[in-house]
Amino acid sequence: MSINHPSFGKLEAGRIIIFDTTLRDGEQSPGFSMNLDEKLRMAEALHELGADVLEAGFAIASPGDFESVQSIAKRFSKDGPVIASLSRANAADILASAEATKPAARPRIHIVLATSDLHMRVKLRMTREEVLERITESVSLARNHAADVEWSAEDGSRSDLDFLCRCVDTAIKAGATTINIPDTVGYSLPADMGLIFSTLINKVPDADKVIFSAHNHNDLGLAVANTLAAIQAGARQIECTINGIGERAGNASLEEVAMALRTRHDALKLRTGIESKRILRTSKLLATITGFDVQPNKAIVGRNAFAHESGIHQDGVLKDASTYEIMTPESVGWTTNSIVLGKHSGRAAFRDRLKTLGYEVGDNQLNDAFKRFKDLADRKKVVYDEDIAALVDDEVGRG
Ligand code: KIV
Ligand code: ZN
Repeated sequence: MSINHPSFGKLEAGRIIIFDTTLRDGEQSPGFSMNLDEKLRMAEALHELGADVLEAGFAIASPGDFESVQSIAKRFSKDGPVIASLSRANAADILASAEATKPAARPRIHIVLATSDLHMRVKLRMTREEVLERITESVSLARNHAADVEWSAEDGSRSDLDFLCRCVDTAIKAGATTINIPDTVGYSLPADMGLIFSTLINKVPDADKVIFSAHNHNDLGLAVANTLAAIQAGARQIECTINGIGERAGNASLEEVAMALRTRHDALKLRTGIESKRILRTSKLLATITGFDVQPNKAIVGRNAFAHESGIHQDGVLKDASTYEIMTPESVGWTTNSIVLGKHSGRAAFRDRLKTLGYEVGDNQLNDAFKRFKDLADRKKVVYDEDIAALVDDEVGRG
């Protein structure tokens, strides 16, 4: 690669840039809007987490959005992440983004224009040639105001691939430094992603002078899989959000992609700058700010992500956690895993919990108590420590 990116210089081999769009695409989820103070707190947390680029908003969208982008840009006026603002491919949007991001040490103007036949015909009412001209005009204008310009092909994954190559070539010639191919409606399969990125990277002249970026939506639950497929095919920036929030079913989840790269470094040989131990607190901060908790079974940050209820699993985890845990809970910010006692739990976990609670029981007492525990567990979804104490206090004394 002969990249000399205005914000990242010569990108280290294997380094993946994390472009966080929690404050822009994430905020576009119904009910998830944040005020200025909340956005500043999130921006700080994302910086501490190690995100490389923060998309702070869509400057032209409203005076409030402009102010948020500008305030975040001011906050990072000396160093810190690249600060991006989204713009459609018109002068007013681009100038608003340029103005709002100007205070940042490393500002980026992000331009989006649709390239699928459907979007061009129905939404833009533009021909292919007009779209190509607009790419040249808009990217050139942005380059007069910022060294770092990202160009995105909206609905890129449903665009004709030869035409997409022409669009990308045009954007690079006009001065774009990052090329983003969104799967705007979450339609692609991982194999499609691989084909799109490998074709662009191999066919477009000067593709090696820019950073390719993936931006995947989760309508089919494939956003993270598609993101991994894109980086396996050569993308070096991924666009994602905390807790996977975003339009409709959301965007690729930052914590899932970051931990997939870390946990499967053996296979992928790629790394991010994410401080994984800060993942959980960042996820919780977002949930607190927006008032939306993540579902219990959410990978990495859901409350069941490191909880074990079945006897077979509990027995394995008590012997060696790596039997059923592919990463440690501590590595993403949990203090510990949890052994949840319920009807699927086994004797080993029950005995272990009794010990933790300070009960020393012989084999016969254990058998009796375990039987009573199973009866109770059939009636109650989760058996808490107080239930166990009450259960055994009748028949055994504390050791
Ligand atoms: O999903 C999408 O196409 C987008 C673009 C604005 C990058 O969010
Ligand atoms: Zn999007």
